[in-house]
Amino acid sequence: MIEILEHGRTFHLKTRHTSRILHVTETGHVMDLYWGSRVEGDAFGYMIKDIKKASYLCGTDGDGAFRLEQYPVLYPGWGNPDLRSPAFSFCYEDGSRITDLRFDGYELRQKKEKLPGLPTLLDSGAEAFRLFLRDSVKQVCLTLEFGIFEKLDAMTQSVRVENKGDQPFTADRLMSACVSLMEDGLQAVTLTGAWGRECTRNSLPLCQGIFQTGSTRGAGGHGQNPFMALTQKGLEERDGQIWAVNLVYSGSFLCEAEVDMHQNTRFMAGIQPEGFSWRLEPGESFYSPEAVLIHSDRGLEEMTHRFHRLYRACLLRSHERRTPPVLLNSWEAAYFDFNKETLLALAKEGASAGAELFVLDDGWFGRRNGADSSLGDWTENRKKLGGSLKELAEEIRGLGMEFGLWFEPEMVSPDSCLYRSHPDWAIQVPGRRPQLARDQLVLDLSRREVQDYIIEAVDRVLSSAPITYVKWDMNRNITDWYSSALGAGCQKELGHRYILGLYRILEKLTEKHRNVLFEGCAGGGGRFDPGILYYMPQIWASDDTDPIERLEIQTGTAMVYPAVSMGCHVSASPNHMTGRLSPLSVRGVTAMEGNLGYELDLTGLAQEEKEEIRRQIHFYKEIRSIIQEGDLYRLRSAGNERAWMYVTENREQAVVSYVRILSRPNTVPGRLRLYGLDPLFTYQVQDQESGTALLRTGSSLMHIGLALPKGTGDFYGTQYTLVRSWNLPCTHLCG
Ligand code: GLA
Repeated sequence: MIEILEHGRTFHLKTRHTSRILHVTETGHVMDLYWGSRVEGDAFGYMIKDIKKASYLCGTDGDGAFRLEQYPVLYPGWGNPDLRSPAFSFCYEDGSRITDLRFDGYELRQKKEKLPGLPTLLDSGAEAFRLFLRDSVKQVCLTLEFGIFEKLDAMTQSVRVENKGDQPFTADRLMSACVSLMEDGLQAVTLTGAWGRECTRNSLPLCQGIFQTGSTRGAGGHGQNPFMALTQKGLEERDGQIWAVNLVYSGSFLCEAEVDMHQNTRFMAGIQPEGFSWRLEPGESFYSPEAVLIHSDRGLEEMTHRFHRLYRACLLRSHERRTPPVLLNSWEAAYFDFNKETLLALAKEGASAGAELFVLDDGWFGRRNGADSSLGDWTENRKKLGGSLKELAEEIRGLGMEFGLWFEPEMVSPDSCLYRSHPDWAIQVPGRRPQLARDQLVLDLSRREVQDYIIEAVDRVLSSAPITYVKWDMNRNITDWYSSALGAGCQKELGHRYILGLYRILEKLTEKHRNVLFEGCAGGGGRFDPGILYYMPQIWASDDTDPIERLEIQTGTAMVYPAVSMGCHVSASPNHMTGRLSPLSVRGVTAMEGNLGYELDLTGLAQEEKEEIRRQIHFYKEIRSIIQEGDLYRLRSAGNERAWMYVTENREQAVVSYVRILSRPNTVPGRLRLYGLDPLFTYQVQDQESGTALLRTGSSLMHIGLALPKGTGDFYGTQYTLVRSWNLPCTHLCG
């Protein structure tokens, strides 16, 4: 909901529990007065008068009654005259770099619209508020667009730049959102890591200066996620204010928090300015990606719930089949070493265990028997497959499973027909030897003909066989930035043009193949962001399938992204990456934190292990809607014991998972307090390990807690299901 106050000078953007208040000063500057818990009132302009100038030197000067630097400017430009970190910076033909934006009107829109060429959060109930700003000297116009998702307690922000003057200029920096908080003493929470260790949670107290998390890799990368939260209390689960931003973008990004000398914190997110610029000719426009803004006054838990509900409702676009299938993937089972017989033998085991989809990973095309060839040559290797893909897919479907396929369409191997015929399609600087990574180069997706080649090649394969799933991989970052199709003055546009090209490809393919479920992957979670999720509603969270490692990775990933978007697999023991031995039970418990899959050679397992997998899949199918649609409560997310639970929105059902990492002698298992239940009702609690059932009230489960089992050995995991019982008066049953 949007309220226009103070004769059109104050704008109150409201969701159910949050408010953002913008205000136009007499000088025409727009201020970011407030973002936080919902407030009521019919005037807020007094906040500007309440700001006490830090120094007597800041008297009246120029055309304003104040120095901008001490005020919460909504969208500050470089050097005018606010000298803190700017939200944008433009360079004009005459070499000047000053842009002075003043209020130029506003517009309310009942319906939020899709951003041209960019993934956008959409919902029939979302409204949009547009604020127009203009520089009257250069005739540059900015539209700040705010999306308001009232019921979901979320907002979005993006920027459109229009060159209405008669000279070109370049945008060197253009943040999607910039927020001014009139306080300091906050902490920054980020998700960082590396390949095999994605999305580890960090919390760092901010002090005067600039703190950034960002990437210049052409993707978010494994080491940082386009997310940052400012918190009053660090990683506090259920307490304190949180202001969080997540960028709907899959390229190089920047999230930045600046604490200034006057106890304010400026917080922004957008395309990474390093290596970026965009030239706008007269009449041209540029759209920034959008940023999602979530505020919570009840700690990280509420923030997570708001992100998850928003993304489930407005980002993960409806796929023909809403429920992601339990899949069996060939990668860790066989790597490149397979033939038709071994694939069918694996698939047969998968089908009898209850898997719903068989995924043929890398190695099915060109002459690909290792990582060093054939990317770009998307033609089936009939010799290796013992026939066509269609025949293989049909045989697998005959076993009762769907068939899915791996691609890495953004890449090219120097040893490929594609590279031999189009070396200039690879990103590399003429005359220099490019850096190979995993023996491959990145295709120049800024070029239309490259985009069309990929669309055509993937479409041809998908149309040739009954394929209902695609794993879309991207195994290296971009180096040697140069496009032979862009002029010298536009080379810094390559990164963003690449991403626009990728989005165009994904738009076309997902539109045409609406029955195909696309799963994103970038050597695991190297490109886990809302931009990818818009097209591909699930992402492979990490190449690290070790269940103990996954505890950290999944806890971090699920802080922002819902369970239904996380691919999580049970793999072999010892684990191929860490060498750690772990019981099948704990591998099952951790993989059930998201979309369950299997990625190991089932044919080599003992009969009891096959039985256990069958039981896991059967159990998962019974509870998956709770995991995929429920609210996540982190019960213990650090230390030797980990526990989490999912609860359906109506609080009727829940699943609790518990993992104890190392066994410790002479200790007594404690109790686990649950959350999110209905205190006044009785729940039937089913212990999956012992098969026993208990009846307990929601209030006792939440305050007294569930007695934990003793368990044996290292890496112990178990689960409980809870069903709310309507008929039984709880007073008789709590024993
Ligand atoms: C990447 C992916 C893996 C697998 C391999 C295949 O590393 O993350 O899951 O698909 O590529 O080469």
